[in-house]
Amino acid sequence: MRAVSTLTTPLVGAICTCFVACGQDASEYGPTGKINFDNERPTLMQAVEAPRYTGDNEFVLEAQATHRTGLDLHRNVIVRTCGPTGGVCHNQKEYPDLHTPSNLLAAINAPCNVQPGDWSAVFDGCERPGDRITLGGSKEVEIGWVDYIIGDEDYNDDKRPELDSPGLHIELQSPINIGDGRTHTWGTASFKLNVIDGGEVEEVSYARYETEWFVLEGGKHLVGEVREWQVDRVASLIDSGVGQGDMNRNGVYGAREATPLAMLQGGDPERSYLIGRLRGELRGLSIPGTRMPLANTPLSISDMLALYCLVEGLPDKIDEVYDLTSPINYADCSWSADPEGLNLLGKGATWLGRIQPLLVANCQGCHGSESPEFGFDVITEGSYERLLEKSTQAPDMPLVTPGDPANSYLWVKMNQLDTMVGLGMPLDAEFKPRLLPEGALADIETWILNGAAAEE
Ligand code: HEC
Repeated sequence: MRAVSTLTTPLVGAICTCFVACGQDASEYGPTGKINFDNERPTLMQAVEAPRYTGDNEFVLEAQATHRTGLDLHRNVIVRTCGPTGGVCHNQKEYPDLHTPSNLLAAINAPCNVQPGDWSAVFDGCERPGDRITLGGSKEVEIGWVDYIIGDEDYNDDKRPELDSPGLHIELQSPINIGDGRTHTWGTASFKLNVIDGGEVEEVSYARYETEWFVLEGGKHLVGEVREWQVDRVASLIDSGVGQGDMNRNGVYGAREATPLAMLQGGDPERSYLIGRLRGELRGLSIPGTRMPLANTPLSISDMLALYCLVEGLPDKIDEVYDLTSPINYADCSWSADPEGLNLLGKGATWLGRIQPLLVANCQGCHGSESPEFGFDVITEGSYERLLEKSTQAPDMPLVTPGDPANSYLWVKMNQLDTMVGLGMPLDAEFKPRLLPEGALADIETWILNGAAAEE
């Protein structure tokens, strides 16, 4: 449902005409009497009608009845999951603030993880190209990440900084060469970014920092001395927001692998980070950070379907803004064919809803109904009741203690905690322990913390 934008342009025209025609005394606004009105803003798509879904899938029908428009979806689901308890929208800095419909609009085609509260929670898919740095006559090298470790230290060749020493640390994508195999120089580093201006790539040098530099790790790590008199300079450099190509410091430069994801990618829910946070994964890759929403009521299948169909119908261009009063097009939405396929999403974090299916998928090979390992089986009737009893292996601890993951042997084994006996779970085909994806573990933790409910 692509809509042609016709609404705003004539309106803006009308406003401009008014400035002239209404005979404002323009001279008081400036020497030329002209107001520079920059009309480069996104155009609002006109609310469009959508065909009604006429099939018989109950989830689609429910979604269509409850969340007719994007505005309904925001009111019914997003505000609820942000929650009166203060939930996700307040204290997760890397999560977008979605309190108002206009915030939701702002998430469309916007980059994700721009200012993460916690760099380790950044998803590779959100990483954008880093800024570049030159030092002395070196070639430009992409910046992976920067870190300022506080402390007034004077270094020299006999007392070189290390990876965790005070100073300005800059990890680089490829080795920097400051000439003649040197590993230490006094010099000015300049920070550059690329601005794409009307199709032209312009290079802008936005900051310089002159100090004593040391090259570590064969050229891939720079440490700049930060003496007391240089602290302000470095603080303002950091504040200027150096573009980092490997924000989560895992050696993967996300933007080099693929086009960075958007918060909500118009036309493609599966490239929308926000949806990844709700699912705990995107296209099979697990998303770091806790799966959303935490203890709040998880999205039902029809809630999730509404979000998918809304995103699929969003414009894929940055210069158009969607009108949230448009009906969501369920009839043409590709996800309406099999809403149940939006796996586990619709179910709450209960034994029957999410946890048993998760354990069946991952554990039943060895803990199925026939001769289950250690008598622990995840599939037969009564397996829920069994969970509340003592473990065989560590008889002091129940397999699950509602409200207390650390005292739940199931959790202990799945996280390989110190209190574990034997091997971590699950085991792979070669009987080596592995960890389940973070999203799955988060589901289990949420479930135990909230009382390990059997059913909704
Ligand atoms: C490839 C086989 C295999 C898979 C898959 C597997 N386990 Fe196990 N499990 C074992 C074996 C063998 C033992 C006993 C040896 C040990 O604990 O080191 C065991 C023991 C356990 C115990 C201890 C039971 C008790 O009462 O003390 C728990 C809990 C457990 N597994 C949980 C899981 C969970 C949860 C999964 C899936 C996420 C899983 N296992 C997947 C083979 C497996």
